[in-house]
Amino acid sequence: MGRGDAKYVGREVGEHLASKTPPGSFYTDETIFRKELEEFYDRSWMNLGREDEIARPGDFFTREIGGESVIVVRGTDGIARAFYNVCRHRGTRLVEEPAGSKLRSIVCPYHGWTYSPEGRLVGAPHTESLVDFQKEESSLYGIRLEPWGGFVWANLDAQAAPLQDELGAFFAKFDRYSSMTWTGYTKRPLLEGMTDDDRRRVYYYTVFPNLFFSLHPDFLMVHRTWPVTPTHSRVECDFFFDPATMARPDFDASDAVDLWDLINRQDWAVCQRSQKGMGSRVWKGGRYSDQEPQVYDFDRYVMERLGMS
Ligand code: FES
Repeated sequence: MGRGDAKYVGREVGEHLASKTPPGSFYTDETIFRKELEEFYDRSWMNLGREDEIARPGDFFTREIGGESVIVVRGTDGIARAFYNVCRHRGTRLVEEPAGSKLRSIVCPYHGWTYSPEGRLVGAPHTESLVDFQKEESSLYGIRLEPWGGFVWANLDAQAAPLQDELGAFFAKFDRYSSMTWTGYTKRPLLEGMTDDDRRRVYYYTVFPNLFFSLHPDFLMVHRTWPVTPTHSRVECDFFFDPATMARPDFDASDAVDLWDLINRQDWAVCQRSQKGMGSRVWKGGRYSDQEPQVYDFDRYVMERLGMS
């Protein structure tokens, strides 16, 4: 929806005017945090990162999802895969680095069990005498991973519907942006394919549970939010520009990046203060302003999914 042209959808117009915000426990309570992880992060397609972060065989990165660590690595066969970051011997976390390249094998630091970039157990010292033990049955625990639009998407739920079934109709809105490239600095022409309407608007989309697309006429901005603890989240922000525009000698994205860096930091600072305040014993919830129907809609959606409305 366009900035300043927000439409309230999904509930009765004006419902928020008579409603209270959730209590502070929704922002601090460990039990509610675990329920949120289970309801939203354990069974949704999540945008883990960009394909160009793992462009070559052996490139990898790790992501923390509420205490669960995931390795994403491109195999020697060129296929990107995701695994739980857990050794099959005695459960040790395998990789601590946030990213890297030229990974030829994943070696557990404890007893040296060794896995190929494709997740196969290829070395397991002192297991020759084990009964009923096959290396082939001790590959890393896999996670479903699918590419779309230059990103890699994962779902921890092995039974989940395919990515395109879940989000294909939504993805169709982004066809004219997918050729974009991450990085950034420019004096930029508008993106190709922008309609007259597009040129006057910024579109904001949220993909539950953790992705925010901001579509500008000349660039795409993506935020990902990762839960860490009930009171701590990690936010990533990427900018994408047209590769042809980036190739120009006068390419400069500092206007977009500097502005949004300022806005992001202001937003994060006030969110941190809000988080602290809502931890107070006196905070039992507040009221939505006239202009916060979307906040109300989001809160109600979360509470209903958690069975706490
Ligand atoms: S826990 Fe990984 S090799 Fe022992």
